Amino acid sequence: MSPVEIGLVTLVVADYDEAIEFYVKRVGFELVEDSPATSTRTGRPKRWVVVRPARGGTALLLAEASDDDQQAAVGTQTGGRVAFFLTVDDFDAAYERMSDAGITFVREPTTESWGKVAVWEDLYGNHWDLIERRRVLDEDSFPPASDIDEFLFTEQQIADRVAELGAQITADYRGRVPLLISVLKGSMLFTADLMRAIDGPMEVDFLAVSSYGAATKSSGVVRIVKDLDQDVSDRDVIIVEDIVDSGLTLRYLMDYLGGQKPASLAVCTLLRRQGDHANDLDLDYVGFELAPDAFVIGYGLDVAQRYRNLPFIAIYAE
Ligand code: IMP
Ligand code: MG
Repeated sequence: MSPVEIGLVTLVVADYDEAIEFYVKRVGFELVEDSPATSTRTGRPKRWVVVRPARGGTALLLAEASDDDQQAAVGTQTGGRVAFFLTVDDFDAAYERMSDAGITFVREPTTESWGKVAVWEDLYGNHWDLIERRRVLDEDSFPPASDIDEFLFTEQQIADRVAELGAQITADYRGRVPLLISVLKGSMLFTADLMRAIDGPMEVDFLAVSSYGAATKSSGVVRIVKDLDQDVSDRDVIIVEDIVDSGLTLRYLMDYLGGQKPASLAVCTLLRRQGDHANDLDLDYVGFELAPDAFVIGYGLDVAQRYRNLPFIAIYAE
């Protein structure tokens, strides 16, 4: 078996509590553990203190220096080299939040070919990179650079939001067995991930509609191309959609399924495009709101059947 991860890295600190205060309150890490551990050889009490960013990955063991050698290593563990690399999805937001929290940046932000970076220092002077990595696209890559206007939601952002929606549905449907109705093809990836985020019994069925043809503008015509396999009467139905735009597709489906007398009928959509039209339908679960003019691809969403396999969501360059 190959090794699977670096679980912990030790950061030597002068004082447990001030270090926790800094990393949790200012940097925004989570305190994973703070428990008494075996005492040191000198008999001083030791604590097992672990912090890490909310999304996980390698954690830091905050280790209070207990002798002169360790004391000397505080803040200089790597002799001035950048010691740690903190990656974020949204550099500008993280930079602003950390600056507001009083964290000192010792190298101002620069944009490199691979993304954005700045260097900050912790309370002891250890240097950290703050990094947002950019996906590098060119005309030979998939997708080609000219097809993408902007990356909108990363794989991780989508996963985080789907987990939240799944937790909400789990809580709302406790004691019931929801029947998820996945509207093909756009919501297939969303459905597959959402199902696994629901912690309880559920069932799934599929329905395919056609409304857009190969164009990027609604034709206004909704047609059932593949019907359900099962009866929805007396079932707790949740329609799972990729995106609600004009709401024509959804309105049609709600009428169609509502006519079959389900016990309840809810809607869970990954995306909702903002605009006058989107607001008149009552949506129970919405993943992300979209700007009115953004046509998006990826994570199930297509343009002329292509790009459903992108793991992220991006604005298509029309
Ligand atoms: P509506 O009937 O206008 O609400 O359109 C909903 C359907 O249009 C969705 O299920 C998608 O298949 C498609 N659609 C709308 N906007 C987009 C988009 O930005 N990208 C990809 N498909 C879209
Ligand atoms: Mg669709």
